[in-house]
Amino acid sequence: MSLQRLSFASTNLDKLLGNGLETQAITEFVGEFGAGKSQICMKLSVNVQLPAKDGGLEGKALFIDTEGTFAAQRVYQMAQAMGLDAEKILDGIIYSRVYNSDHQILTVDHAFKICQEENIKLLVVDSILSHFRGEYIGRESLSERQQRLNSHLHKLLRIAQALNLAVIITNQVQANPQAFFGDPMRPAGGNILAHASTHRVMLKKASQGLRVAKIIDSPYLPESETYFQITTKGVEDAAPKSRRDE
Ligand code: GTP
Ligand code: MG
Repeated sequence: MSLQRLSFASTNLDKLLGNGLETQAITEFVGEFGAGKSQICMKLSVNVQLPAKDGGLEGKALFIDTEGTFAAQRVYQMAQAMGLDAEKILDGIIYSRVYNSDHQILTVDHAFKICQEENIKLLVVDSILSHFRGEYIGRESLSERQQRLNSHLHKLLRIAQALNLAVIITNQVQANPQAFFGDPMRPAGGNILAHASTHRVMLKKASQGLRVAKIIDSPYLPESETYFQITTKGVEDAAPKSRRDE
C-alpha cells in the first residue's frame, strides 16, 4: 500500500509537510487556544473528500470531537466557498462527540471497523489530551494516564497503517519551567505523545491576524516554518506584509 498525501489547498502548508499530510502516520498540530488547530481539522475533513486530481483522497472523514468545538455551519461555509456541494460534504464527515477518556478510547477501539466500512481516509481526534488531562490530576496518577494514552495512540497508528489513512491529533501547549532560553511553551503530554506522533507542527498566532506553522519534530521534514491565514474558505496562504508596503 503506497503512501498517499492529502492537500491543504495551501501551497505553504503543503510544502511545509512535504507535499501534504501523509497517510500511515499521525500528524499532531500543537498550539495555544485560537491558533487554528480545529480550523485545520475541519478544513482537511472537507479536502479529504476531493478527487485525487484536486489533492483529496476520495474518502470520508471520521471526526472525534472531545471539546465540542466542531461546527457544522463552519464546514458548510468552507465547502460553499470552495464551490462544493456543502450538504454532500457534511454527509461525508462522520461526527463523534466523546465525553470522557473511557468514551474516547472505546470510540477508537471501534473505529477500525467504521473506517473500513465507510472508506474513511482521515481520522481526526480534536483534541487528544483534554479528557486525560482533566481526569488524571496529581503525580500519583500520571503513570496510569500515560499508559492508557500510549495504548490509545498505538491503536490510532495501527488504523492509519492498516487502512492507509491519515490521522490528525491536536494538542495544547504548556509552560516549560526548564526553558531558560528559547520557547517557554512546549506540547503537553510528555514523551509518550512526542514519540507517538510522526510529525509535530506548532501553530502560533502572529501579527496582522496571520498564523505561523512550524515543524518541531519529524523523522525527515526540515525544521522550517511558514505563514497561513484563516479565511472563509478555511486556511489559505499568507505572507507577512513588510513595513515598506504599509
Ligand atoms: P483551541 O481549541 O481553543 O485550543 O483553539 P484552536 O487552535 O482549535 O483554534 P481554532 O481552530 O478554533 O481557531 C479559532 C480562530 O479561527 C478564531 O479566533 C478566528 O480567528 C478564526 N476563525 C474561526 N472561524 C472563522 C471564520 O469563519 N472565518 C474566519 N476568517 N476566521 C475564523
Ligand atoms: Mg480547537
